[in-house]
Amino acid sequence: MEQELLNLQNEARGNLNQLTEAGQLEEFRIRYLGRKGLFSTIMRELSAASPEERPRLGQLANSVRAEIEQLFDEKKTTLDNSSSRAQGANAIDLSLPGRYPERGRLHPVTQIMTEVCSIFEALGFSVAEGPDVEHDHYNFEALNIPAHHPARDMHDTFYVSESILLRTHTSPMQARIMESKQPPLRVIAPGKVYRCDSDITHTPMFHQVEGFLVDTKVSFADLKGILTVFTQKMFGEELALRFRPSFFPFTEPSAEVDIACVICGGKGCRVCKQTGWLEILGAGMIDPEVFKMVGYDPEIYSGFAFGLGIERIAMLKYGINDIRLYYENDLRFLSQF
Ligand code: PHE
Repeated sequence: MEQELLNLQNEARGNLNQLTEAGQLEEFRIRYLGRKGLFSTIMRELSAASPEERPRLGQLANSVRAEIEQLFDEKKTTLDNSSSRAQGANAIDLSLPGRYPERGRLHPVTQIMTEVCSIFEALGFSVAEGPDVEHDHYNFEALNIPAHHPARDMHDTFYVSESILLRTHTSPMQARIMESKQPPLRVIAPGKVYRCDSDITHTPMFHQVEGFLVDTKVSFADLKGILTVFTQKMFGEELALRFRPSFFPFTEPSAEVDIACVICGGKGCRVCKQTGWLEILGAGMIDPEVFKMVGYDPEIYSGFAFGLGIERIAMLKYGINDIRLYYENDLRFLSQF
């Protein structure tokens, strides 16, 4: 019996050492310390021992049981502690609502810009981009706007130095591209432009898409056709469109193209300045003087050009009545598009 007790003591120590989870403790307790456990089974033999042996064996049995109980309690404390710590730190509460990542989107001006470009790309135009900080030469001179020409007053230019400026329109791209390529040309040039101007229909920075086509025998009818297709694709077939005679130094004849004000339906409001119409672009046949400056023969080549304002188009499309909303970075506004 003595040997059995010592074996039990060893085995219990070893088993307890290997326990790693609080859930395994009960199984251990039943196996060794329970009423029908291994310890109780051995104890039944005590009555069979000789009276001289009994006190010694009884003492040994008590100390073996006491040790197993003590080791068991210690193990229970460590396992309980570590399992509750683990629950606090890593436990997953499946009842909590999930965390959704915020979904970004393109700025409404970028969306319209992309849409405008893809309409013209489908009509065979290719896309070119140029610098925002521009030479006086491309912004004015090459477009038939010499120094002191009254047309410069229309532009409210931001100057960087005497001959460097922030481009006031995308038209410099006409000169830049014609200078480096030969006709036939069909190009659009989207980008930012700058003018010192700010009210509900003007911001100091805004976006334009320039378009131009140069070939032989290009007529005003071609310009009207392309722009009509564009406005119909952009705003729908029913939208009223008008060509109003105008002046630009780099086109002759020139026109401004208006669409019916979609804010007031043509009745007159703050946005259309009570006219019922909103100007969306300027256009015309490229002036022979511009061709001469880039070395094209105006007797052979003809072409048209147009420049449209993206913010204006987005305002009409979405019914926005103040252009400044685009640039206030208010997500309550921007996330609607
Ligand atoms: N650049 C002109 C503007 O910004 C628009 C325009 C472009 C007019 C091309 C005619 C031809 O007002």
